[in-house]
Amino acid sequence: MNRASLDKRPDEVAAMFDGVAPKYDVVNDVLSMGQARRWRRIVVEAVGASRGQKVLDLAAGTGTSSEPYADAGVHVVACDFSLGMLRVGKRRRPDIDFVAGDATRLPFADNSFDAATISFGLRNVNEPAAALAEMFRVVKPGGRLVIAEFSTPVVPLWRTMYTEYLMRALPAIASKISSNPDSYVYLAESIRAWPDQDELAARIAAAGWQEVAYRNLSGGIVAVHRARKPGRDEAANAGAQDALRHRGTRAAF
Ligand SMILES: C[S@@+](CC[C@H](N)C(=O)[O-])C[C@H]1O[C@@H](n2cnc3c(N)ncnc32)[C@H](O)[C@@H]1O
Repeated sequence: MNRASLDKRPDEVAAMFDGVAPKYDVVNDVLSMGQARRWRRIVVEAVGASRGQKVLDLAAGTGTSSEPYADAGVHVVACDFSLGMLRVGKRRRPDIDFVAGDATRLPFADNSFDAATISFGLRNVNEPAAALAEMFRVVKPGGRLVIAEFSTPVVPLWRTMYTEYLMRALPAIASKISSNPDSYVYLAESIRAWPDQDELAARIAAAGWQEVAYRNLSGGIVAVHRARKPGRDEAANAGAQDALRHRGTRAAF
């Protein structure tokens, strides 16, 4: 198994990440030209978890996205379905709670987390709507959702340059440093096929989340979406209203 196809069969996706796990973090740093660290800091700020709170880091991979929470005294649960990625993470950070689980059928109780976050994972899930619904189920009423994902650069010239990088330079660099260069062709193709900022905001709201907003990073190469689960006494249809409002709008935070 070299790479997953764009229909994202879960067994193929898990096997692909098992294969890249040992060098995953180093390759990330190189391919993002160091930007990944800044993007991660902004995600942690958006989650805004405090000591003692419980955060689900879904599709956590090797736990790089989970570490800042653990370092800040937050109880982070790092969940992923690639045992290869989880093993690398557990070896590096035995103190973090790594859990094997599928984003579309989470092994957690209803209303059990203060926040859920997913960094560079939702695009790889074969049913993103099911993952959004599952995160909604496990987050407490009033709790938060933060999603970091590759997105669509907003300025046309920047978008063209970035597309060239994705489709040509990135696979060429990956072929030199990754154990599985084909998986970086999948990365480029899956980014291009992924919905833009407004469309993702609409999908988040359609899963019931409210106050959906997003912030572009590096000119829109990455977008961080933030949302809140309605409190116990808030209208049940708030999410559906947000879904309508977000079509064609540019919410920001
Ligand atoms: C690009 S990595 C991101 C890892 C980490 N969040 C980070 O920021 O470095 C994507 C992860 O999504 C996981 N993944 C994809 N589909 C999944 C699913 N349905 N359930 C759980 N994990 C999934 C993969 O196994 C992989 O570890």
